[in-house]
Amino acid sequence: MKKIGQALSAVYDGQELESVSRALCLELLDIDKADFYTKAKLSFDSDRDSRLDAALKRLEKGEPLQYVLGNAPFCGLNFKVGPGVLVPRPETGELVSWVISETSGPAGILDIGTGSGCIAVTLASKMPQCTVKGWDISDEALSYARSNSELNGTDVVFEKHDVLASDLPEARFDVIVSNPPYIIEKEKSDIDRTVLDYEPALALFVPDNDPLLFYRAIAMFGKRALKPCGSLYFEINPMFAGQLQLLLERSGYHNVTLRRDIFGKLRMIKATANE
Ligand SMILES: C[S@@+](CC[C@H](N)C(=O)[O-])C[C@H]1O[C@@H](n2cnc3c(N)ncnc32)[C@H](O)[C@@H]1O
Repeated sequence: MKKIGQALSAVYDGQELESVSRALCLELLDIDKADFYTKAKLSFDSDRDSRLDAALKRLEKGEPLQYVLGNAPFCGLNFKVGPGVLVPRPETGELVSWVISETSGPAGILDIGTGSGCIAVTLASKMPQCTVKGWDISDEALSYARSNSELNGTDVVFEKHDVLASDLPEARFDVIVSNPPYIIEKEKSDIDRTVLDYEPALALFVPDNDPLLFYRAIAMFGKRALKPCGSLYFEINPMFAGQLQLLLERSGYHNVTLRRDIFGKLRMIKATANE
């Protein structure tokens, strides 16, 4: 599509531009797959034209494609996303796979900092025998998470809680999983403008002087909320993998195990609670 290429060549390069064009044609404009791939002559009514123009305007400014489309794929499911909620990332899918590979039976699972609900809803969808809850501090995120649970036919219970507060509920879980905010302010200069300008800072950043803020709070909470031998799984900032491993060991967790993502980065950690 010439028009898309012309509008977006300054924002995306090569392959990325191709996949954005494909997504716009197939998902936004509902163009038939066969017509798209055979490059058949496409008829453009005014509705399609105005949808495309509006989308291109947003993409030209650097807004994430997933916000413009209103959804994002994750682990084979579809999630509604938009301003106010983090776009699910592929590396988080690897964390979900890790949890699934080690969870059997009707486990009780809590996802802390649930965002779009991608972790909680995927776990509930792939392991219907489990009872899954998701917590977040953001009303906007919780509203997306609830829609996403419905959209994917799960019955995850979402609740508003500040995990840094001292009055968390006294529930017990077999598994706690979290992808909390973990980017330090100093890393901001390395981050894509699309992320910085559009995705919620609340979901991303921690203070430079306390990068493990959320991990410490969740590990402390896990000490009383995890059942004996329960499991704690985190997505992590590779820069602080060693420090976090130490923190978990010193907090009394066992079998603290780091795992690399497909890009070779130390991106996940698991710890087991006492018997
Ligand atoms: C990195 S995002 C992860 C979102 C989602 N789980 C995912 O993997 O795509 C972190 C989430 O933590 C939430 N959050 C930030 N501070 C929080 C707090 N104090 N208590 C609970 N959730 C918090 C944010 O709103 C955001 O949704």
